Amino acid sequence: MKQNARIVFLKGLMAGLLGTLATTAALAQALNLGNANSADFKVVYATAQDVAEGKRVAQTACASCHGINGVGGQKGVPNIAGQRPVYLHLEMKVYQAGGRGATGMANAVKYLSDDAIMKVAAYYSSREPAEPSGTAVKAGPAKPDAVAAGKATAAACGGCHGEAGVSKLAGMPSLISMDTKYFTAAINAYKTGQRKNDMMKALVSELTEVEISNIALYYALQKPDKAQTPPAGNAAAGKTAAAGCVGCHGENGVSGNPTTPSLAGQESQYFVAAMRAYKDGSRSDATMKGPAGSLDEATVKNLSAYYASLAPQAAKVAKPMTVAEWAERCDRCHGVNGNSADPRSPALAAQRVDYLERVLAAYKKGERKSKEMAVMTEALDDALVDGLAAHYARQKARGMTYLILPPPPAK
Ligand code: HEC
Ligand code: HEC
Ligand code: HEC
Ligand code: HEC
Repeated sequence: MKQNARIVFLKGLMAGLLGTLATTAALAQALNLGNANSADFKVVYATAQDVAEGKRVAQTACASCHGINGVGGQKGVPNIAGQRPVYLHLEMKVYQAGGRGATGMANAVKYLSDDAIMKVAAYYSSREPAEPSGTAVKAGPAKPDAVAAGKATAAACGGCHGEAGVSKLAGMPSLISMDTKYFTAAINAYKTGQRKNDMMKALVSELTEVEISNIALYYALQKPDKAQTPPAGNAAAGKTAAAGCVGCHGENGVSGNPTTPSLAGQESQYFVAAMRAYKDGSRSDATMKGPAGSLDEATVKNLSAYYASLAPQAAKVAKPMTVAEWAERCDRCHGVNGNSADPRSPALAAQRVDYLERVLAAYKKGERKSKEMAVMTEALDDALVDGLAAHYARQKARGMTYLILPPPPAK
């Protein structure tokens, strides 16, 4: 290799441009790599000499933790082999400035010159990246997503509320296609005793907030169906009496308001019992006291038959994104399967799973600051964090392509 040949980190897909571009500067411009004269981007234009000197820095200052090849194998220590050069450089500057706390890592870079940082970044980014950690990841059971977790917890409810929340027992409400807001409010009302039912209180008192939200999501997303029980009255007669209800419960019993329950397909006997409870005040609700108080028992039965005959509609609740769907979003910045094609943006492929989990949690809690990553991790729950960490740890890592160019012409 010629002494002062230049190594340029190149976006693989742009390789076709090569024939038409003579100088590094023109190439850098075409690839939108940034200004070769800016300190942050100097590393992109490192020479073979720089890389060799970077290796010497690595031997004394980094290898004890990261290994001389950048794949250290120690818990908590990230792989840095093949990591994108500008990102490595910028990260080390963040540690040096104390931006990530006074850790062993911060101490290691504290007294390094800018030049040494540039060279050691060039060195590690030119190493062969780690192998995917498939076996380590397979060892732990995958956490189920929110809907699957909700289904598992709801197994305890199916005996009364029916499988998937379609009631088959007179007097038991259907929970299918219930809006998650109303569902959650109802559970919390039982918990606090504001809605009086000792049995339901006992059944839900141990549920955590996350479990409740998962069960709510599960029932909201099942295919809607009417309760499978006989009607308590006459549906045709009930239709006329329902005129005063549509304003709140919607045309055809499908409510447009997430805190007002839909009535379409609701179990008939439960409906009657609920109206009785509103009327005698044992279920206290200022909104329903009026409508329920003015109706006789026969009319209520007819209303229950009418609403039971209507087809329920799916709740307006978005199905949460899967790990694979999230990863597609992440890949927009981190590259296909976490193989970043931008020297500023970190690669994630084959990174240690424990490191990825910890870092994602740190962004979510705001302990590690990044505008982009704060937004991206805001909506991730623990299961998604684990799922995404496992996903990227399993990906095959590809370093960026190198290109050896002649030095730019002297000015
Ligand atoms: C005492 C052990 C130790 C030494 C020595 C050390 N590091 Fe680290 N390094 C770590 C640990 C642990 C982390 C993760 C810390 C965290 O989560 O903030 C880390 C993180 C990093 C990161 C951030 C990785 C990423 O993907 O964001 C880079 C870059 C890095 N080290 C490079 C170096 C270089 C280059 C050297 C030598 C100049 C070095 N480290 C020396 C332990 C060390
Ligand atoms: C032993 C039978 C039984 C079991 C098991 C049971 N429920 Fe219930 N559930 C009822 C009855 C009866 C009511 C109606 C109580 C009332 O009148 O307020 C009810 C009411 C509800 C309501 C309010 C429905 C509405 O339309 O307002 C929700 C929500 C609910 N249950 C959720 C659950 C969940 C979640 C579980 C499992 C953790 C569960 N239930 C287990 C019998 C049961
Ligand atoms: C002003 C708005 C409003 C009107 C009008 C109204 N409702 Fe309601 N209804 C509500 C709200 C809000 C709730 C939920 C109250 C609660 O949390 O207990 C409810 C609850 C119910 C329930 C209990 C559902 C369940 O799953 O537990 C039944 C049954 C019901 N209404 C029937 C009717 C009927 C029949 C009429 C017409 C005669 C009617 N409502 C008129 C707002 C209304
Ligand atoms: C809009 C662009 C963008 C998107 C989308 C994005 N990221 Fe990032 N990500 C960044 C940037 C910029 C950084 C570097 C931030 C820093 O310096 O801490 C980063 C850093 C990271 C890191 C730390 C890497 C390391 O080696 O320490 C991880 C892990 C990560 N992102 C995972 C993800 C995941 C998982 C997603 C999808 C849920 C995602 N990112 C989506 C821009 C993005």
